[in-house]
Order: sequence, then C-alpha cells, then structure tokens
Amino acid sequence: MWLLTFAQMIPAKTVQEVIEATRIEDVVGEFVTLRRRGINLLGLCPFHGEKTPSFNVNPSKNIFKCFGCGKAGDAITFLREHESMTFDDAIRWLARKNNIEIKEVERTPQQMLEQQLVDSLFIINDFGAKHFSDQLFETDEGKSVALAYFQLRGLREDTIRRFGLGYAPEHRDLLLQRAKKEGYSLDLLKQTGLCNQDANRDFFRARVMFSIHNLSGKVAAFAGRTMSKEKTIPKYINSPETPIYVKNKILYGLFQAKNAIRKQDDCILVEGYMDVISLAQAGIENVVASSGTSLTEGQLQLIKRNTENLTILYDGDGAGIKAALRGLDLALEQDLNVRIALLPDGHDPDSYVQEKGAEEMLSFIDKNKKDFILFKTNLLLEETKGDPIKKAGLIKDIVGSISRIPDPIKRSVYLKECAALLNVDEGALVTETNKNITGSLKKSSDKEARSGGAASDSGWDGSPNPEIPVEDPAFKVPQRPSGSGAAKGIVQERDIIRILILFGGHLLPEGVTVGQYILTDIEDSLSSFDEAIYGRIAQECHQLLAAGGNFDANYFIRHEAADVRNLAIDLMTAPWEYSTNWEDKVGLPLQNQPKPDLNFEADMRYAVDMFKFNKLRKMCDIVNPARIKQAMESNDYELLTYYLSVQMKIKEALTLIAKKRNIVVIPT
Ligand code: UTP
Ligand code: MN
Repeated sequence: MWLLTFAQMIPAKTVQEVIEATRIEDVVGEFVTLRRRGINLLGLCPFHGEKTPSFNVNPSKNIFKCFGCGKAGDAITFLREHESMTFDDAIRWLARKNNIEIKEVERTPQQMLEQQLVDSLFIINDFGAKHFSDQLFETDEGKSVALAYFQLRGLREDTIRRFGLGYAPEHRDLLLQRAKKEGYSLDLLKQTGLCNQDANRDFFRARVMFSIHNLSGKVAAFAGRTMSKEKTIPKYINSPETPIYVKNKILYGLFQAKNAIRKQDDCILVEGYMDVISLAQAGIENVVASSGTSLTEGQLQLIKRNTENLTILYDGDGAGIKAALRGLDLALEQDLNVRIALLPDGHDPDSYVQEKGAEEMLSFIDKNKKDFILFKTNLLLEETKGDPIKKAGLIKDIVGSISRIPDPIKRSVYLKECAALLNVDEGALVTETNKNITGSLKKSSDKEARSGGAASDSGWDGSPNPEIPVEDPAFKVPQRPSGSGAAKGIVQERDIIRILILFGGHLLPEGVTVGQYILTDIEDSLSSFDEAIYGRIAQECHQLLAAGGNFDANYFIRHEAADVRNLAIDLMTAPWEYSTNWEDKVGLPLQNQPKPDLNFEADMRYAVDMFKFNKLRKMCDIVNPARIKQAMESNDYELLTYYLSVQMKIKEALTLIAKKRNIVVIPT
C-alpha cells in the first residue's frame, strides 16, 4: 500500500485550500508557548537563543516574525524551517491538522520513476550505513581496528553514532554478500557506487567510513578514510554523484549544524570531515565542511538560508589560504559577511580543539578573525611588495572582489579601507569598481532582455547602482523632489490618525478591522510619532484593541481630552482633502478617484505604506555617516557590521515600499 504514495501528488487546489484554512497561531502554538500581547502573540524565538521574547505571531496577517533574529514567514515556512519538512510534508501535516482530505493525483510515469529511484537509493544507503555501523560496533575486528582508531582520535561513542561513522573491513565483497542475502537490488547497489559495475567487489574496503547526510538527515553518500599512512593510497574516497548526491548542493555537517548555525547566527566553515566532527563534539556545533574543495554557489545558498555570517576557519598553511581565497568572490556575491581565521601552522581545527579545548578554540577565532577583503588585501600586498606591475594586478583583483558585493554601502566602506591599505587614490578605485559594476549590469540586463524579462521600473531598485557615487560611505537617504521631510512626516501621521478615527471600526476583507490592520502594521513605530497628539491617539487605540475593546468616530468625539475631541471633529467635518500623497501618485488623477468614504481601504493601505516609508527614512539618521566613519576609524568591525546590517534592512524595507508604490527615488 505504501508504494502507492510514490505515485501520488497533492493537487494545487488542495494546497490552496490548506493554506487558506491554516491559522499561524495554531501551528506555531504547537511548538512555541505563546501569550497574547495586544493583537499579536508573543513567545521565545525557536530559531535563536533568547531570554526575553521577541518572536511575534500575527494572526491577522497569518505570519510570524522574530524581531531578534529576523526570521519570518508563514505557517509553511515555519514547518519547513523548524521541523525540516518538505513543502509537501508541511501541506500534509497542515491538512491533517485542519481535517482537510487530500485526494492525491497521479504523477506522470516519468515523475514516478524518478521518485522511486530516489527513494530506492536512500534505502540502499541506509542499508550501507547500517552495514558499516555493524562492522564498527558489532565485530571484533571493527572494535579493535576502527573503533580504536576513532577513539585514538578522541571521538566519543555518542559522537560516532550521531555522525553515522562506520567501518569497511579489508574484504573483497562483504557488503555485496550481505546485500545479496538480504535481497537488495544489485543494480541499485551499483548506482549508489557501493560496489563496482560488475557487482563483484565492494567500493569501500579497509577504511573508516563517514556518512554524508542531506538536509533532512538521510544518508546521501559516503566517504571512506584509509587508516594507512601509505602515501600512495588516496586518503579519502567518496561515493560518486547520484540523483541523491549532487555534490555542489550538499554541505558536510549541515544537517547536524543547522540549528546551531541559526542560534549563533554564524556558520563556521572548515575543510575536513574530522574538523566538523571534533568541533561539534567539543560543543562548537555551528560547523560545516567544504570537503577540501572551494564552495559552490549552491552550497553558499544553503548557508545563506541559515545565516548571513560566514567564518572561515582554515589551516594557516599556503594551501589553506589559497582554498579560502577561491571561495571568497562567490561568498561576496551572496552578500555574506565573510570573516577568516587562520590556525597556527601545523594545526587544523580538529587537532587544535582536541589539544586545547573548545574555549581556547573559540577565543582564538574571536581574536584572530579578520574581515575577508581586508585580509586578502593585506595578504596580496605582502606578496607584491615593491613590484608596481604586480601591485597593479593586485588592485584589479581586489576591485574585482569588491565589485561583487551587492550592497553599495558595504562596497564604499571597503573601497575606502582598501585605498588606504594599498596607498592609492580612492577615486581611482571607485572608478574601477563602477566600471566593473556597469559592465556586469549591462551584461545581466542584456541577458534579461534576451530572456524577455522586464527591466527595473524605478530609478532606485536596491541593486548595485552605478549612479550612486560610491566614494561616499553615507547611505543616500532617498528624497522625493519636493516638500520638507518634517512637514511631510506630519502629513502622513495625520493621515493615519484620520483613517483610524473615521474608519477604525470598518471591517476589511481579511477579517480584521481597519484599526487592527493599521496598528498591527505600525506597531513598532507607535512611540515615534513626531506630533504628540497623533502619537497619543495611536497609542490609545492600540491599548483599546489590546484590551479587547474597540473604537469608532463617536468614541473620539466624546473623548475626555479636549484637544482629541476637537481634532476628531475637525477631521470629520472638514470638507475632505485628498492628502498630498494622492496628488503625487503617478497616474491617478484626482478627479478619477472615488470619494474617500468609498475608498477607505486603498486609502488606508496607502497611508500605512507612506507612514512607514517616512519612519524608515528617519531611521536612516540613526546610522548616519559620521557614526560609520567613526566605527571605521576605530576599527570597530562589530559595530560597523551592525550599522551596515541595520542600514541594509532599512533599505530593503524602503525599496519594497518604493517599488510597490512606484515612488521615484532620486539619489541626492
Ligand atoms: P584533510 O587532509 O585536511 O583531511 O582534507 P581531514 O578531514 O583533516 O582528515 P584527517 O584529520 O587527516 O583524518 C580535508 C578534506 O578534504 C577532502 C575530505 O573532505 C577531507 O575531509 N579530501 C582530502 C578528499 O576528499 N580526498 C583526499 O584524498 C583528501
Ligand atoms: Mn585533520
């Protein structure tokens, strides 16, 4: 019967139905203790360690968001990330929860075959893993040779089991014999690479074995290490690529490290299997291995899904440094913050942590990690000392790396730093960088044009923009052509309050009132109104809703505070003015607009967006150029990185609204 499930697929209609029936608070509530806080629910974030709750669940929007680590999404995202479910599994889980029956539809025969093959390969690998583990733990040879080897290398039994280590004795076809006896398909065995193509010899022999897991913890492949010191024997051999082992999409250790990476908001990258295992055993669990090759884009994306911070921990020898440098440009393109710490000569992370312990390892990393671009610049500078031609090459190299950073602010900070390090004119570096960026932008827009994709429609789309002068580390606060910032801000605040007072109790299609919608959306800005009276009203509305109460225009007309009463009456009786926002809005001439009371919904959404846009612009001041400069000059990279990441977040939010509202942003 279970074979049938191979042939099944959830129909799109059911997926939709399940999504619509799902309530975020019910789903998250199964894993996190939530308590009501106003319109939202609040709890301790399950994705990072925290003592005071910043994990918000917003029932009206059906989403969660952690204001600590930034993790956000809907119920499906939650299940995928928290429970490592696939999309289909999440839908099935939610369907069960909501009593929705899934009538699965047939897959095409091709899809069925592929799925069957994948499932079968995993089954064979499970058999392989069990075999290697049995050989290690259940045989005398395994215990005296392999287990002793692992123990000699400082591994505990729980670690050995957690990472699925095993042993393949020196025997021509031990695994094959057992597979035959237990009825496994020889053809599949060949495909996994566990035996040769003639199916008469095991692939892994006389080696200690490492299971390589995929993201959901299934065994995707194996690596075998020789215990011999003989130089002619390859130290490690690996399973071949198969449909379940696509090398550039698997990172060794990620399955075991995933949660720790999120909690620490940092991923440590090492070279070897043993490095991952030893560090994890010592309690440093946010570690993955590149397995001796440079990282691929696919692998970097896997990291990026868990954190933006990558700490490379390599041997201090020449090979280690070279390997690290190779991965750099791709990591920069993914907009990862890359740092590097090189171990003292003769050590790798495994030997270091086994000898000195976790605490010393961590403090070593902390003391020695350097920003990667600056590290590279310094390194190359050493090499090219006194040779002007080599130095020119070096400058090109560095500029090439910097050009790949998507974020213009980060780029400009690096250009400034590197110009100083290289003792060259910053302007020249800027020009070079801009040339690179314009070149690659042109390339990608050509590509887009060829593939029929739409070009960006705004002058400021958040992508590397060659028109923003890169030499200024200041984040360019986007400015609209007219109007003073402060006055504008107040207009937006008044707009929000007007809509709250006039339409606060109206029901929206999503089943919440205008008041609930607005206040949930601007909750974070409630204390930052510029005009005191608007702020007071917003806070009061928020408290009313939080206490389960409600409000409408009449409530304000009868308000105990005279100024609130007067304002409410003002707003209600004044011949209605279209806010200046409407006038500015391209393509919506005033006379074509419906009356405000017919249009409160669109009006409200617009007002909320504009309000947020303004608050965000103000927030840019928190991270002003002077502070960035100061952090830079005092070499405070922690602070600098913090400023940059705050800026980036603000900018992303601004860009989103600017795009949605078609606001043309002119860089100053
Ligand atoms: P290392 O030689 O540093 O191995 O290669 P290691 O992991 O530290 O192992 P020990 O400590 O000597 O036992 C780093 C990684 O490069 C890949 C493996 O992924 C290894 O973990 N490698 C190395 C191979 O794939 N094949 C090899 O022959 C050598
Ligand atoms: Mn090693």
